[in-house]
Amino acid sequence: MKKICVEYIVPGMILAKPVQGLDGSELFPEGTELGEEEKKVLEDAGIDYIYVTARSEESEQSILQTVAQEYAFKFFMYVNPDNKLFVELFNIIVELIFDALKKGWELPCEDYIRAKSVERMRDLFLKDMGGPEDIVKHELSLASFPDVYFRLKKVLENPSSSAKDIAEVVSSDVALTTKLLKLVNSPLFGLTQKVDSVERAVSLVGEEELSNLVLGISAIRYFKDIPPELMDMQTFWKHSLSCAIFAKIIASNYRDVNDEVLFTAGLLHDVGKLILFKNMPYSSVETLVFARENMVPMMEAEEYVLGFTHTDISKLLMNSWQFPNTINDIVSNHHNPTEASFETGAAIVQLADNLANAVGISYGNTFVVPGMDEDVFDKLNFPVEKLKPIVLKHNKLLNDLLSALT
Ligand SMILES: [Fe+2]
Ligand SMILES: [Fe+2]
Repeated sequence: MKKICVEYIVPGMILAKPVQGLDGSELFPEGTELGEEEKKVLEDAGIDYIYVTARSEESEQSILQTVAQEYAFKFFMYVNPDNKLFVELFNIIVELIFDALKKGWELPCEDYIRAKSVERMRDLFLKDMGGPEDIVKHELSLASFPDVYFRLKKVLENPSSSAKDIAEVVSSDVALTTKLLKLVNSPLFGLTQKVDSVERAVSLVGEEELSNLVLGISAIRYFKDIPPELMDMQTFWKHSLSCAIFAKIIASNYRDVNDEVLFTAGLLHDVGKLILFKNMPYSSVETLVFARENMVPMMEAEEYVLGFTHTDISKLLMNSWQFPNTINDIVSNHHNPTEASFETGAAIVQLADNLANAVGISYGNTFVVPGMDEDVFDKLNFPVEKLKPIVLKHNKLLNDLLSALT
C-alpha cells in the first residue's frame, strides 16, 4: 500500500482505503480501480492524498514505472527532448525514481513549494530599487569572507613558501582542517594512503589545489547563518556539492582541466542565489514559484522577476573577494559557457549542474533541469555512456561528503 498525491494517479491503481469527501460521504470504496475519471472526481472534491495498491506484483512494477516517468517528465519540460544528453539523463533519473518508489519514497506534491509562508518575508531591497551592485555592496558591509583564505593566498603568492608554511596557516583553523582532511581522504580523491596532516595533504594534492579546497570550505562556513526560513541550507549545499562532485569527476577526463578548480567552482556555482535569498527573500521565492509555474529555468525567471540573475551577483561578489579569476569566470558563465574565457570549465560545470538537478529529482530536490545547448555538450565531446556510472559513483559519495563538509 502506498500513500500518493491525487495528481500521481495512473490508470490501474486500486484504492487501498475508502475515500471520503469533505462532507464525510463515501466517494469511492476500497478496491475501486482508478482511472482518469476517478482522478477528476477526487481532484474536484479537493482530496490531496489517497492510499493505493496494485492488482499484482507485475502491475505494481508497471504502475511505478509510469509514475516515475510522469514525475520525472515534469522536470525535463524545458530541455530539448531529442538531445541525446537529456534522453540519457531522463532514463537514468526514471530508474532512480523507480528504485526510490520501490523503497517507499513518497513523491512530493505539486504544491509543496508553496507551503512555505512567503508573507512573513520582507525584502531588504525592493524590486526596481536595488541592482546587483547595491545588493553586493550591502553584503560586503555585513561580513567579511573567512580570513584564513586570504592569509593562505598571501603565503601562496610568496615564491619561497613551503608546504610547512601553508600547513601552518590552515592548521591554525581547527574546524577547517578537520573538514579539509575529511575531504581529501574521501574516495572522491582516490588517494591510496590516509592523509592525517595538512602538510601531507599539500604534498599529495598540491598547493594551488589545496587552496581551492580551502576556498570552497570557507564559503560553506561564510553562508552558514542564513535563517532556515529563508533557505534550507542543507538542500542548497546538497545541490552544490552534488554539482562539485560531478564537476570533479567529469574534469578528470580532460587533461587540461584542474579537477580541484572544477570542484570548487561546482561548489560555488550558485552562491549568487544565496546572496539573493539573504537580501531579497520574498522576490527570490517569487522567482522559484514563477520558474515552476511557467516551467522556465531559474535564469529566465530571475530576469523576468528581478531584472538580473544570480550570476550577475556572484560575479561582482567574487571579484570583490578576489577569488581566483578562473573560478569566477566559470561560476559567472555556468549558464552560458560560450561566453567564458575558460569555456571547457564552464561547460563542465553546466553539465554537472544539469546532472545535479536531475539527480535531485529522485529525492525531491529540484525545480526544472536547466538545460544545456547541444553544441556546448558536443564540444565537450563527453560520451553519454559515461553518465550512468558517474551518477552511481556520485550517489555513493554525496551523503558522506555532505555530512563531512556542512
Ligand atoms: Fe545557476
Ligand atoms: Fe545549480
